[in-house]
Amino acid sequence: VIGRSKAEIDTPALLIDADLLEANLERGGRDFTLNGLSYRPHAKAHKSAVIARKQLEYGAVGIACAKLGEAEVLVGAGLEDILVTTPVVGTAKIQRLVELNGSARVAVVVDDPGNAAEIGSVATGAGRVLELLVEVDVGQERCGVRTPEAAVRLAELIEESPGVRFRGLQGYQGGSQGIRGFRERVESVNRSVDRLRAVVEQLGRAGLVAEVLTGGGTGSSPIDVRAGCLTELQPGSYVFMDSSYAEVEWTPEGDPPPFARSLSVLTTVISRSSPQRVVVDAGQKAASSDAGSPVVKDRDGARFSFAGDEHGIVELTDGGAPLLGEKIEIYPSHCDTTVNLHDEFVVTRGDVVEDVWTIDARGKTQ
Ligand SMILES: Cc1ncc(COP(=O)(O)O)c(C=O)c1O
Repeated sequence: VIGRSKAEIDTPALLIDADLLEANLERGGRDFTLNGLSYRPHAKAHKSAVIARKQLEYGAVGIACAKLGEAEVLVGAGLEDILVTTPVVGTAKIQRLVELNGSARVAVVVDDPGNAAEIGSVATGAGRVLELLVEVDVGQERCGVRTPEAAVRLAELIEESPGVRFRGLQGYQGGSQGIRGFRERVESVNRSVDRLRAVVEQLGRAGLVAEVLTGGGTGSSPIDVRAGCLTELQPGSYVFMDSSYAEVEWTPEGDPPPFARSLSVLTTVISRSSPQRVVVDAGQKAASSDAGSPVVKDRDGARFSFAGDEHGIVELTDGGAPLLGEKIEIYPSHCDTTVNLHDEFVVTRGDVVEDVWTIDARGKTQ
């Protein structure tokens, strides 16, 4: 397929626009390091070693992974500094974690004393020391300790336990990321910052120092770099941009985000009941539906709706009347879950296929 034109790509196919991806990576490298911050991009967005390596070339200090399975794949591909941002629970998984730590620097978040102690004990048995970050619930009500006192107790336990070392705190609030209005997003991010600061102060009183304060995503990043709390950002979606992210106000003046939609699904018209309504070969198995319907690219007024796991309907209002076999591109509403449906990215520059990249950690949810 390399060297061929877009029209010759078999479908459904997951496309990356190489020019836009590179612009996003370059811009991220600048924006996420403002005011001396570091960034550790989240690989849950792309699940691919090629893109993770590019992020390091653009100044990332390491990579974040949602799951141990993702981390195993990236370490296997040569990535050397990983933070697993979801607790790793259960003896079998902890053994995998400790083993992985033998090949790379792999840290993990914890929010439970028993879990931290078990990691310490397995690591001690293997003659290793694992770095742990205490996850603090800064508003999402997902994982994370709920009070500064609980955070301090857990950090103290880690400091006292063999086989583990306290590296810092993670405070991530997914609920802030997609808030459209800039002012409302600032308020939400500030509430999280206050909660994390309260923990840092309490740690200080107990004589403990959090070397790293990690968190934040694409949507909160322009606020996080000015808030003076986090030391490390974990943006994921900026590489591709979900279609809903494009609506978010980036500045107090309401400017759009500086990142472009570089990911799309290429589909083919397989049935044409009328010029205003065609069926394409991409349904829920080619583009995820958890965040709504994809958006049709470059066709004014066109609307995509799912018609099952293998079919999609495109309704057109501009009389564009695509023919049978014609290609239609759609932007996924949620890139992370769409990427997980595909084996590879077809990388295009202009109209020509430049490369094909494996989605190495696709399906690695364990
Ligand atoms: C812990 C954590 N950090 C960072 C991110 C990245 O956020 P975004 O994709 O909005 O940049 C996520 C996304 O779900 C996350 O769960």
